[in-house]
Amino acid sequence: MPTIIEPFRIHSVEPLRITTAEERHAAIAAAGYNLFAVHSDDVLIDLLTDSGTGAMSSEQWAGIQRGNEAYAGSPSWYRFEAAVKALFPFRHVIPTHQGRAAEKILMAVIGGPGRIIPNNTHFDTTRANIEATGAEAVDLVIPEGLDPALEHPFKGNMDLARLDALLRERRADIPAVFVTITNNSGGGQPVSLENLRGVRALCDRHQVPLFLDACRFAENAWFIREREPGQGGREVAEIVREIASLADGMTMSAKKDGLANIGGWLAMHDDALAASCRNLLILTEGFPTYGGLAGRDLDAIAQGLVEVVQHDYLRYRIRSTGYLGDGLHAAGIPTMRPVGGHAVYIDARRMLPHIPPLQYPGQALAVALYEAGGIRSCEIGTVMFGRRPDGSEQPAALDLVRLAIPRRTYTQSHIDYVIEVCAEVAARSAGLGGYRITEEPAALRHFTARFEPLQG
Ligand code: F0G
Repeated sequence: MPTIIEPFRIHSVEPLRITTAEERHAAIAAAGYNLFAVHSDDVLIDLLTDSGTGAMSSEQWAGIQRGNEAYAGSPSWYRFEAAVKALFPFRHVIPTHQGRAAEKILMAVIGGPGRIIPNNTHFDTTRANIEATGAEAVDLVIPEGLDPALEHPFKGNMDLARLDALLRERRADIPAVFVTITNNSGGGQPVSLENLRGVRALCDRHQVPLFLDACRFAENAWFIREREPGQGGREVAEIVREIASLADGMTMSAKKDGLANIGGWLAMHDDALAASCRNLLILTEGFPTYGGLAGRDLDAIAQGLVEVVQHDYLRYRIRSTGYLGDGLHAAGIPTMRPVGGHAVYIDARRMLPHIPPLQYPGQALAVALYEAGGIRSCEIGTVMFGRRPDGSEQPAALDLVRLAIPRRTYTQSHIDYVIEVCAEVAARSAGLGGYRITEEPAALRHFTARFEPLQG
């Protein structure tokens, strides 16, 4: 049958609170036009992030009950470690409370002034954790990855020629190469196995370790199965193990493809590096068999890792994101193509060409979607990436608005509603105005900045 259905039925429901337009106007003004500051009860469809916002399965809730809270050596830890190693057989697995904690620990060990860490595109927390050590974060995605409308099967791929040139020039300053699968900041676009093999070959040639930022590894592996020649018949779990075999280590947020509400890990083969990281872990996160998590969280993740590589789940997951993207595309709204794994990205710079990047077209669109229909989205553009460490500002490469889809949470009618709201805003987009920032912190400003509408 052509309809790909949700491969689950609903077991427990959470009511949504329907708000009026007046209530939403008041709520967003009180929040300083920052959607992160809105009370989530005032949000109807929350597409702010796919991180930690998904629904857990009945087996994951059963795992929560099985959770054992021993400080050291809990059975929950051993189940977690086995589940991670079944997909990512790195010698050392170090649990953390979420992805950025893994990044912070690793960067504290390998970063520092004068160091450079390349990636296809660093996520904002990765970049911030690198820059916080005084090191430099460099993005080397292929040029196709920066052209939102261009159709290409693996727009998350690393630009191998530029990586090679950087390694030739600065090898001594590069402690590791990163690849983010899927490339969140570049539109949730996948990286091909062929490209990963190419990165591996360069890392071998220059003797540099390769780390994965593997938050959405299962979605990336599904795209490989669907799009890469010769991969169609393979089990996703097998593709994931091949990806892992190409790397020396990884950082992970289990809030994405761990199908859990919290958690993460850092993993690697290198014994000395692992020892340094574990020392920091004990200082900031906890003992190495729980790393900032409750035993029950470890069990929820262990079960999530079993479910996330199931083909029925991934077929539904990728199709449900595609359904939103195709709906917006059909409504004439410029989106990043092809549709990514966890989110649809609207090209706000193209949709609102009358708003210059330094007046934040992405923020303007995100606010308008909230005011029009209670949809919470996330600006991924000049607000998120436009502030340089020295405090100056420049337009980001793209001004996108991300509609991220929580896993197993919203139904098709919710998404039909989202498409209708977006089309209504698009029809009057010429009347939307820009914003200016009235308050901002020194780093990761998108979380807490306050804005003011510019009079048009
Ligand atoms: N790397 C990538 C690619 C991410 O998308 C995220 C989080 C992290 C690292 C950090 O993980 O949140 O567990 O500390 N992304 C979320 C998002 C926040 O909305 O895209 P974390």
